[in-house]
Order: sequence, then structure tokens, then C-alpha cells
Amino acid sequence: GRPLVVAIDGPSGSGKSSVSKEVARRLSLAYLDTGAMYRALTWYCLDRGTDLADASAVELAAEELPLDISTSPHAEYVRVDGTDVTDAIREPAISSAVSAVATTLGARTELIRRQRALIEKHNRRMVVEGRDITTVVAPAAQVRMLLTASEEARLRRRGIQLGGTQSAEQLAAQVTQRDAKDSTVVNFTQAADGVVTLDSSELDFEETVSAALRIVTKVI
Ligand code: C5P
Repeated sequence: GRPLVVAIDGPSGSGKSSVSKEVARRLSLAYLDTGAMYRALTWYCLDRGTDLADASAVELAAEELPLDISTSPHAEYVRVDGTDVTDAIREPAISSAVSAVATTLGARTELIRRQRALIEKHNRRMVVEGRDITTVVAPAAQVRMLLTASEEARLRRRGIQLGGTQSAEQLAAQVTQRDAKDSTVVNFTQAADGVVTLDSSELDFEETVSAALRIVTKVI
């Protein structure tokens, strides 16, 4: 078929992953979660004791990373050197370390190269989600979308109730801090030229998927 790259960026908790995956299923496209790649690299660095403050060591780890990631929206798996890390990369230890890895420019260069290779491998028929897909990884994508949600909605979806317990406040602070750190290298809070913003604050999952599909069908 014709190329159809659907690039979707957004902050954590915007519902990006579940929405992107469902859009890929409905359109029979491949699917790539680039955040999982940064998480897998972080897992690899922590596993081998790579100093995350050492940029050249992190870059080298990125180049060596023996990564096998699913590109199907029907099966989620991430393997590093044969070890299944699908669940491990969602642990808090990874979430709090991932920004340090993702702000290492040499590591980004390597992961971006791999992301582009995966898009090519699927004949440019893929939903790709992350933080810099519309701007850096695939700026020529047929569809470019920024999925946003108010901070309140994003925290709510993560099961975090503001004004609740102290641990809830801590979790909220962690999410906000990660976005703030990530923003130092990629701008995913404002839509670049030609990027459509989809605000999901007042939408449920089905409504968000429908809105995203309408944006896609407008261009194809
Ligand atoms: O999407 P997710 O929250 O799993 O992403 C994890 C981390 O990976 C982000 O906090 C960010 O540091 C990094 N990331 C990135 N560029 C992307 C996707 C994710 O820097 N395209």
C-alpha cells in the first residue's frame, strides 16, 4: 500500500500509547512505541552498571543495545539480549532514570536511527508514538498529531488523586518532573507547524480514538 506514517507525540499520561495502538489496529498498520525503546536502553544501562551521567558510556550502550521490540499493535513485547523486559521497563526505577538516558544526545541519535529503520522496514505504514516523532523522527509523516490532556486529566488517568495522600502527591511530582526534564531536549508541549493538536482532557478512550481516526481519514 501507499505510505501512511501516523506520528503521534504527547506527554506521559495523555493516553498516547493506548490510543496509538488502537488506531494502528483499526487501520491495520504496524505500531512502534519509541518510549519503550528509551526505557529498554535505560534497563540495559542499569543492568550493566553504566553510569547514566557518562554521556559516551550511555551512547555506547545505545549502539550496542541488543533490542527486539514488537512492531505489532496486537502483541506487546520488549526483549533485551533475549531477556523479556516488557514489564520491567514499566517499573518506577526505570521511569525515574529514563530522562537521564533520553537527554543524552548521542543515545537519541542512535535510537532515532533505529526508529527510522523500523519505519522503512514496514514500508512506511506505521503508527509511531513518542515525544519527537512529528518533529524529528518522521517530520514528513502523512499524519502528525499532538495528543494533549490537562495535567489534571493526565494525573487522573494514572490513578493519582490530587489533594490525597502524601504518596499520591509524590507520584504526581514524579510525573511532572519527568515531563519537565524531557522538555529540555524535545518540545512536545506545543504543536509544531502542520501538527494537529488533539486535546483529550474531556474525551474518554473511544472518543479519543474516533477523533484521532477522523484526523487520519481527512488526509488519506
Ligand atoms: O512514553 P513513555 O513515557 O514510556 O516514555 C518514556 C521516556 O522516554 C520519556 O519520559 C522520555 O524521556 C523518553 N522518550 C523520548 N523520546 C521519545 C519517546 C520517549 O525522549 N520519542
